[in-house]
Amino acid sequence: MLYDRDRELALFDDALARASRGEGGLVLIEGPPGVGKTTLLREAGREALAAGAQVLNARAGELERDHSYGLVRQLMEPALAKASEAQREVLLGGAARSAAAPLGLDGGEPVFEVTTALNGLFWLTANLATDRPLVLLADDLQWADAPSMRYLLFLVRRLDGLPLLVVGGTRPAGGGDDAHLLRELACDPTVMVLAPGLLGAASVASLVRERYDAYADPAFVEECAQASGGNPFLLGELLQACTQEQVPASAEGARRIHELGPRTIARAVLLRIAALGADARALVRAVAILGTDVPLPRAAQLAGLSAAAATTAADALSSVAVLEQRRPLEFLHPVIRSAVYGDLPAGD
Ligand SMILES: Nc1ncnc2c1ncn2[C@@H]1O[C@H](COP(=O)(O)OP(=O)(O)O)[C@@H](O)[C@H]1O
Ligand SMILES: [Mg+2]
Repeated sequence: MLYDRDRELALFDDALARASRGEGGLVLIEGPPGVGKTTLLREAGREALAAGAQVLNARAGELERDHSYGLVRQLMEPALAKASEAQREVLLGGAARSAAAPLGLDGGEPVFEVTTALNGLFWLTANLATDRPLVLLADDLQWADAPSMRYLLFLVRRLDGLPLLVVGGTRPAGGGDDAHLLRELACDPTVMVLAPGLLGAASVASLVRERYDAYADPAFVEECAQASGGNPFLLGELLQACTQEQVPASAEGARRIHELGPRTIARAVLLRIAALGADARALVRAVAILGTDVPLPRAAQLAGLSAAAATTAADALSSVAVLEQRRPLEFLHPVIRSAVYGDLPAGD
């Protein structure tokens, strides 16, 4: 259940309705880790599917910034893969032909001009939106490769008349050189920036009571709100730590949260990992070092584990909500990766 997101979802519905009428748009969901960007993006995707749109997904990775058009490929490849040969010819016909090279498709003629490649990708996108409205969901844009960001900037200036809605998720752009394309996108006057807020007191109270399945003392609720700052991810971690350590939802429980201090959450993550033993700890550290979308064999090698031991450890780590339940390996949340990374022994 999503709390405190009525405004964002209403604005998204408007943007979707406009896109369906041919008034394309780009919505940027901006906020710090854990505030609920991915969750909102997924909800937007569900609503778009329910409204009959075609939805394509991508998520940029911290270590894939140098992979040219990596994000665009993630978006387009599934749609091209499921198209028939005849449909592909239409999708990649005419001006869209020059999309083949940036997408690395067989038989693509080399393209030497960036604008030619972008133009081809634009036409491919437009072609994908002819039968029904198209929604592109692109998460973690703070890590997107530069060519894919240029594609989004190219697209945003040509949305008018297209039944296309692009929804991006991103951390706020920093001031560095590598973020200038993201800043440019966020500042574009046609882009709607949504900044989902921290959860209010009533929502924190509901989430605490959902978790405890019973009455929770107002002092306990208040302490949870304080410790998490209303950040939904941190609140979830905190509540998990409390149940794990059997902290009651009472005034006494409130005192215990207070005593555990601000590092409660990182500590909770590390405790959860420690309980799994040495293999899991070695593997999770390797994944923290290697970054996002880590192939199991690479992590196993760095951790000095056999494939079988790494598989067991990875499964254990996903069962305690540290890693996602998939291959390649990925942390469930960047905040968890930070906790593990921050705990690496110096010089390791
Ligand atoms: N509006 C919300 N109400 C309740 N829980 C939420 C809400 N938004 C996010 N969450 C929970 O918080 C956690 C982190 O959300 P996530 O979308 O991954 O954040 P982000 O992408 O901003 O880092 C998830 O477990 C999610 O279920
Ligand atoms: Mg996210």
